[in-house]
Amino acid sequence: MINIAILGYGTVGSGVYRVFTTNHKIIENRLGEAIRIKYVLDLRDFPGDPAEDVLVHDFQVILDDPEVAIVAEVMGGTGAAYTFTKKALEAGKSVCTSNKALVAEHGRELMRIAREKGVSYLFEASCGGGIPIIRAINDGLTADEIDTVAGILNGTTNYMMYKMGEEGSDFEETLKEAQAMGYAEADPTDDVEGHDACRKTAILSTLAYGKYVDYRSIPTEGITKITSEDMKYAAAMGCRIKLLGFSTNTEKGVTAIVAPFLVDKDQALYNVNDVFNGIFVHGNMLGDAMFYGSGAGMLPTASAVSADIVDAAMHLNKTVRTNWTDEEAQMVDPGDARWKFFVRTRDIPEEDVFSILPGSRVFRIAKIPEETGYITPFMKQADFDKKQARLGDKVISVIRVFAKE
Ligand code: HSE
Repeated sequence: MINIAILGYGTVGSGVYRVFTTNHKIIENRLGEAIRIKYVLDLRDFPGDPAEDVLVHDFQVILDDPEVAIVAEVMGGTGAAYTFTKKALEAGKSVCTSNKALVAEHGRELMRIAREKGVSYLFEASCGGGIPIIRAINDGLTADEIDTVAGILNGTTNYMMYKMGEEGSDFEETLKEAQAMGYAEADPTDDVEGHDACRKTAILSTLAYGKYVDYRSIPTEGITKITSEDMKYAAAMGCRIKLLGFSTNTEKGVTAIVAPFLVDKDQALYNVNDVFNGIFVHGNMLGDAMFYGSGAGMLPTASAVSADIVDAAMHLNKTVRTNWTDEEAQMVDPGDARWKFFVRTRDIPEEDVFSILPGSRVFRIAKIPEETGYITPFMKQADFDKKQARLGDKVISVIRVFAKE
């Protein structure tokens, strides 16, 4: 019998409880041993809830109990979650988490402590919800040199972009709808400003390239500036606008960005819609692969945390191998990253735009006759920024195009 504790009885915590109570037999068969939830930690009481009997309010009870071998940290945040994780690892307990903010902020230190103590710090649920993308990168692709990871890593914003595109609704209206559906938080900043996707991009890039990518070094733009007019252009060009976390690793270093991109209908990510996540990976032996599925929600996330708990249980008193290293990745200057740009303009003759952005393709759509859109050739971000400055207030909006040079 292996005893575990769940820290936080919110959406994911109660999901983990449900996974182990619903699937206990199948898990026991696969592990060869039963897993018992000995404690659930929460500040609140849950009268009548099945977890009531194992509910505790004091983390010290869990920390001091030598029978507890594995802890699921599903509290979120980087305050108490950090302190409890650190103490649990130092006490020789493995920790499994869905907390991408904590992994991105303190992952290096926590991973180091886990290695020193001969236990595991596992975080499958931090990226892609129920999609086993971290296990795929760590294990399935362990013989590959991965050079690109590009994905729709945030379900909330993917839902919003899809709805705006399909229904022609504007950002504020769609956000309210997403909140009413329970997809967007009351404070949606982390999602709509791209911070959540940024942390996930940093974690996946670190594992894919075996070098530490600091989330603070990833330029991040959210979806708040995307309008229904941008969506009309995208549809007319056979594209959808998606918030992507993108990174690529070359001999020059790692280029990474989180931003809205125009994705053409011929690309697999085009069909990743609604709240789903999709992660494209390119490896030098594998070629292309796409991982698709439920990227958020109670049971998909709990399924991933629970799989980590079983993995930690299979490797008690060992550190489960991951590609995580402390060696810093060499980051390419964001100004040197090369993109194609879609530019919407107003009140400027075509020849003036062509003199600044030669080689661009023109797009006009009947629904917005007063504007002209252009898709530029590939160019460095820094060069484009200078050209955009020359066009000044004639530029209405700019969106990068997801394409390979
Ligand atoms: N807010 C996140 C999302 C939750 O929408 O994808 C899952 O990490």
